[in-house]
Amino acid sequence: MALVTTTEMFKKAYEGGYAIGAFNINNMEIIQAITEAAAEEKSPVILQVSAGARKYAKPAYLMALARAAVEDTGIDFALHLDHGADFEICKACIDNGFTSVMIDRSAYPFEENVKETRRVVEYAHANGVVVEAELGSLAGIEDDVNVNAEDALFTNPDEVEAFVSKTGIDSLAIAIGTSHGAYKFKPGQKPQLRFDILEEVGRRLPGFPIVLHGASSVIPELVTEINECGGNMPDAIGIPESMLRQAAKMAVCKINIDSDIRLAMTAGIRRTFKAHPEYFDPRQYLSVARDEVRKMVKHKIETVLGSANTL
Ligand code: G3H
Ligand code: 13P
Ligand code: ZN
Repeated sequence: MALVTTTEMFKKAYEGGYAIGAFNINNMEIIQAITEAAAEEKSPVILQVSAGARKYAKPAYLMALARAAVEDTGIDFALHLDHGADFEICKACIDNGFTSVMIDRSAYPFEENVKETRRVVEYAHANGVVVEAELGSLAGIEDDVNVNAEDALFTNPDEVEAFVSKTGIDSLAIAIGTSHGAYKFKPGQKPQLRFDILEEVGRRLPGFPIVLHGASSVIPELVTEINECGGNMPDAIGIPESMLRQAAKMAVCKINIDSDIRLAMTAGIRRTFKAHPEYFDPRQYLSVARDEVRKMVKHKIETVLGSANTL
């Protein structure tokens, strides 16, 4: 058992009409929760690390914890860099032993995106590592943006074939209306995804793995619980799980989830302190947080990803 690339996972997921969950890791409890859920569900998962997570936990700890999870569960996991800003951070992660990196130059013009992505692909592939890149910029749908400007945020299907062939990437993140964080839509706004774009991208890149970022559903019960237990979160709206399940049946092979993990942990910790204000041993509340994340990941595997029993 080992840390592995996503190549086989994505091939099976594409053919099987399901997606692999990519869950953000920041500490031991989160890694244990995700990988224990994967073992219980007999599901592959991707452990992904943002630049912020590297800074928070330090690369050496994250590497050692990911390897410990493989040893503990007897399952292969992919270890992925989330939103690598440039060649240097991608190279550092590849040199550390990551099996997958994302180079995110989606905010740059097409040719500049191609250039830096190609550079990362050459180094990664020479080291047996796979690469995800992004076309289109992820954002919430803004009420006050006119249609043309709004369209400019979404991935343009006319660009995807050239981008994939010029860069040599292994998977492509696209923008179809998802966005990062807990506040994806304005209160009263109806969540919607551009399935027409996803369909067209899938038609132009047959068999090629597509990635959805910003795919938390921001489960309302968790926000309510956080607020009932002393929190003060404004109304938060995410992507309905049924829409994500639909995307997983199409060309989407990787679905990124971070915010729902954050909400699950925070709700668990706040509930624990509300019931037991006398607690001061971190294990008393961190064990609850870990269990809530484990249940959340199992829920995502069963409801959104459809990846249970595929190991
Ligand atoms: O896409 C962003 C992820 O949710 C990671 O967030 O940069 O705060 O660790 P972070
Ligand atoms: P959420 O904020 O919707 O969980 O998205 C996470 C993500 O896309 C990480 O890359
Ligand atoms: Zn993301």
